[in-house]
Amino acid sequence: MPRHSPSYVCQTCAAQSRQFFGRCPGCGGWNTLIEQAAPAADGRRRRQGPPTGEAIGEAIGEAIGRGKPRRSQPIHAVGERPLQRLASGFAELDRVLGGGLVPGSLVLVGGDPGIGKSTLLLQSAQVMAQSCSVLYVSAEESAQQVKLRWRRLGSLDPSPAPALTAEEAGGGEPINLQLLAETDLELVLQELEALRPAVAIIDSIQALHDAELSSAPGSVAQVRDCAAALQRLAKRQDTALLLVGHVTKEGMLAGPKVLEHLVDAVLTFEGDRFASHRLLRAVKNRFGATAELGVFEMRDRGLAEVSNPSELFLGSDGPAAGTATIVACEGTRPLLVELQSLVSSTSYASPRRTATGIGINRLHQILAVLEKHLGLPLSRFDCYLAVAGGLDVEEPAADLGVAAAVVTSFRDLTLPAGTVLVGELGLGGQLRPVGQLELRLQEAARLGFRRAVVPRGSGLGGSAAELGLELLEAGTVAEALVAALGVDPAADPATQSAAD
Ligand SMILES: Nc1ncnc2c1ncn2[C@@H]1O[C@H](COP(=O)(O)OP(=O)(O)OP(=O)(O)O)[C@@H](O)[C@H]1O
Ligand SMILES: [Mg+2]
Repeated sequence: MPRHSPSYVCQTCAAQSRQFFGRCPGCGGWNTLIEQAAPAADGRRRRQGPPTGEAIGEAIGEAIGRGKPRRSQPIHAVGERPLQRLASGFAELDRVLGGGLVPGSLVLVGGDPGIGKSTLLLQSAQVMAQSCSVLYVSAEESAQQVKLRWRRLGSLDPSPAPALTAEEAGGGEPINLQLLAETDLELVLQELEALRPAVAIIDSIQALHDAELSSAPGSVAQVRDCAAALQRLAKRQDTALLLVGHVTKEGMLAGPKVLEHLVDAVLTFEGDRFASHRLLRAVKNRFGATAELGVFEMRDRGLAEVSNPSELFLGSDGPAAGTATIVACEGTRPLLVELQSLVSSTSYASPRRTATGIGINRLHQILAVLEKHLGLPLSRFDCYLAVAGGLDVEEPAADLGVAAAVVTSFRDLTLPAGTVLVGELGLGGQLRPVGQLELRLQEAARLGFRRAVVPRGSGLGGSAAELGLELLEAGTVAEALVAALGVDPAADPATQSAAD
């Protein structure tokens, strides 16, 4: 195969160089030189190199304009095409995509090694192949490995799965799921052009290799070039592309940031490797909201959707000291989640504080509010906090639940069964209102909860009564805890029992 000497282009000042420099000889910027595809021997550039803004614009222009002269026109005169969506086979995946896979769109699916990216996409491909043509490009695993997985997953599906190759399908039968085990970008592009599938899955973009670039597969230049070439082709022929992307040690999607700008949606597949559930989120989505959450469970025969995730994150043992239930909202989806806390006297000079599933700074802040406004001497105690089920709860609506879990562990109290707490804590100890409260209350009522402690002024007394929920409104964290527990946790139990 002919080798072309690489050229390097500065991403800041566009200076070109035949040699790689850590520092651009033109503008002096560090790490700005990126390898670029050299022109082919016949003088024609096979592809237009890395995805500059112009190249991205061209690709989108091609997709929208379909060959028409690209001139500006009044926005109201622009022809509208209804946004079609392909069902991915998983309602949870469709929800995260904003309603399904959009033809011609590029979706990047990232996740830790072994989390189940290939499983998710192969299962989805299997279902999609029943209604449209799908090409699965495996650049990491051999065709045999993919077939073994497909057999294992296929047995989940009661309907017979489509055959993988034409020979298997009985020679020349129209088949919808094609498998290509290839790492060479050129061959992948040729196959895409020849088949023109409705959906193509590239597993993974880091394993693809453009022979025109001398850098190793997975390098910044390779990933950029491969993704840009695939995008141009996909937009031109309306193929929806699902790219699998690796995640670095720091938890970021490997490859250049420009890859995230280039694609239409970035999904992350995450989960605790020791727990069976997996969470799918959209970090970026040009065709839907990014706050949605999809929940799956990894079983020995593949991924199964969890349509009622609240049950996954609720403890089954009932109320105990140090536990509190909150209603977190992931997008438009309310989730009941159990928080667990352990407060014990410290044997260290400075007490230990650890939080799993909640930001440690948030815990520090809540402990400081409790110490200041309830007078609890928490600075002499270690405090451990965990969200059951390994979920990450980022929203401040969990604050009141954290406070209740800490206080009940500290005072060895138990919240009455069927109580949920929702509210954000201000630094002055006041409770702040939270969004989507009605939705949260509906979910709590649906799962059999009967009491809800919420910030004052919710205006939801009527609807809570209809749901059969006792609504306890409070203006401060102290009031909320008294309402929830029926006793004042700020009062010292020794003096309280003496008074009794
Ligand atoms: N034979 C098997 N029986 C049961 N579970 C399996 C089997 N093979 C794989 N798994 C499950 O599937 C997971 C791996 O899935 P998959 O290969 O889809 O992950 P991945 O994210 O694509 O990984 P990679 O980053 O290595 O490509 C394993 O962690 C395991 O839980
Ligand atoms: Mg894989």
